[in-house]
Amino acid sequence: MAADRTEVSARAAATCVLTLCLVCLHVSALKSQLFTRTGGLPYSSEPPISYKTFYFDQKVDHFGFLEDDTFKQRYLVADKHWQQPGGPVLFYTGNEGDITWFCNNTGFMWEVAEELGAMLVFAEHRYYGESLPFGQDSYSDSKHLNYLTAEQALADFAVLIQNLKNTLPGAQQSPVIAVGGSYGGMLAAWFRMKYPNVVAGALAASAPIWQFPGMVPCGDFYKIVTQDFARSGYNCDANIRKSWKAINNVSSTVSGLQWLSEEFSLCAPLKTIIDVIGFKNWLQETWVNLAMVDYPYEANFLQPLPRWPIQVVCKNLAFDSNVSDYQLLHGVSQAAKVYYNYTGSSSCLNTSQTATGSLGALGWTYQACTEMVMPMCTDGVQDMFEPEDWNFQAFSDECKAMFGVRPRADWAGTVFGGKEIASHSNIIFSNGGLDPWSAGGVTHNITDSLISIMIPDGAHHLDLRYSNDLDPPSVRAARALEVKYFRQWIKKAKKTHRTA
Ligand SMILES: *[C@@H]1O[C@H](CO)[C@@H](O)[C@H](O)[C@H]1NC(C)=O
Ligand SMILES: *[C@@H]1O[C@H](CO)[C@@H](O)[C@H](O)[C@H]1NC(C)=O
Ligand SMILES: *[C@@H]1O[C@H](CO)[C@@H](O)[C@H](O)[C@H]1NC(C)=O
Ligand SMILES: *[C@@H]1O[C@H](CO)[C@@H](O)[C@H](O)[C@H]1NC(C)=O
Ligand SMILES: *[C@@H]1O[C@H](CO)[C@@H](O)[C@H](O)[C@H]1NC(C)=O
Ligand SMILES: *[C@@H]1O[C@H](CO)[C@@H](O)[C@H](O)[C@H]1NC(C)=O
Repeated sequence: MAADRTEVSARAAATCVLTLCLVCLHVSALKSQLFTRTGGLPYSSEPPISYKTFYFDQKVDHFGFLEDDTFKQRYLVADKHWQQPGGPVLFYTGNEGDITWFCNNTGFMWEVAEELGAMLVFAEHRYYGESLPFGQDSYSDSKHLNYLTAEQALADFAVLIQNLKNTLPGAQQSPVIAVGGSYGGMLAAWFRMKYPNVVAGALAASAPIWQFPGMVPCGDFYKIVTQDFARSGYNCDANIRKSWKAINNVSSTVSGLQWLSEEFSLCAPLKTIIDVIGFKNWLQETWVNLAMVDYPYEANFLQPLPRWPIQVVCKNLAFDSNVSDYQLLHGVSQAAKVYYNYTGSSSCLNTSQTATGSLGALGWTYQACTEMVMPMCTDGVQDMFEPEDWNFQAFSDECKAMFGVRPRADWAGTVFGGKEIASHSNIIFSNGGLDPWSAGGVTHNITDSLISIMIPDGAHHLDLRYSNDLDPPSVRAARALEVKYFRQWIKKAKKTHRTA
């Protein structure tokens, strides 16, 4: 059994990749984790996106002196509204994926550029998109992957900004504000902490900087997912909690396996117990993704979805407790198809995929296997999932098998300050109450200038998305407050320059 689980999770890890979020596999131990950001909405009056693409020669290794190679880091610039000289720069600290995707999906920056007279810069994170230090070989072995760290990425951002200031006419005195969501939000916050000489402040949206060992309870993440379902329909969480046993029961016979495969319109029929474990992981990840993208309007983030998608999902799960396993699982399949077939264009469901998107899953899995150790666990009581403890040793063993490296559980807490960050300044941590990542986020004010903004009706970094007529008042207020702080930071930075 133990061996089976390891095999399964290795397989799941390899295919999991998906989404942005960090979550993926909950199998045995390796939770592959990727974050993401959101897609544009069909009906809003989004301002057109127009940027120029540049490449900067960046050191492969900022922290040692033997490796002198460089690579091309991609970055995008939009200066249409920039008031030079000295107008501010909003600098997106790219996360684990193609920077053009994040750029296209961070409507907030596009919407505030004009009123702030700001230039927008979107910098790609090394090892993702086109910014590969060893070209196509970047992922071929752990020697090449060795330079994929958040510290190196932050140094890339700092060097790039210093270079822009030195070379762009009118930019020398420009205050720079870091903006990011999810892992990019963690980077934005850490960027201000490590390089306060380079950025005047940071907006860290849905950034779980405390989702590390010993900082928050490992079960909080899945509790929030469960609460989202509990509040969205009659018996919705209870029926999902029951569904795992129903799947085990039904899949215990060959005819049951066939029935399940047909009921869920699976591309590849379930044949073995390992397939069933993979199937359950896929469903679990589906519910997690829905919690992240439970937006108040129709959107296409990870998948095209209706407004308040969890409510639509839960309409299929509103059973009383006397329902049969088959009836229950029929409802679950209808619910899953809200996520996978909202547009009606999917011909079968692929249990190797949970999201579409430009995310670099393999890279994120490597980061999770080195610095970004984010414990998660479930108990089946306070959450609607099958109980599973956090097992660092099993996680570490999987990492060793996949990449030849073992994670350092305490390093993130050491290098990025853990919960002792009060000596820093000018960072906004925004969090959505519906977003499971808020479990690891900063949800209270720490000082006058380390501010937490809560958006009770918000899912994953709703505030960074384009505004929408259906936005709840809480996200409108959050955006207004964010811009107010931006203005304060800009004003203060300019004053400092003048007196210097
Ligand atoms: C982002 O938008 C640009 C311009 O509209 C487009 O060319 C590009 O394909 C988009 N990138 C992604 C990943 O969607
Ligand atoms: C298990 O499934 C069988 C049919 O395969 C059904 O008759 C039985 O009621 C189920 N057991 C439970 C506990 O739901
Ligand atoms: C389940 O119980 C409800 C009310 O308790 C009843 O109306 C319904 O007919 C029952 N359904 C089945 C399948 O027995
Ligand atoms: C998706 O929806 C379309 C339209 O309702 C339907 O024809 C198709 O069978 C559905 N696909 C799956 C996998 O259920
Ligand atoms: C399912 O998804 C995997 C991973 O993206 C892909 O390799 C495979 O071809 C897909 N299978 C089908 C039948 O679409
Ligand atoms: C933090 O302080 C700001 C400014 O006073 C306030 O608007 C916000 O609600 C506070 N955040 C929390 C989580 O209490």
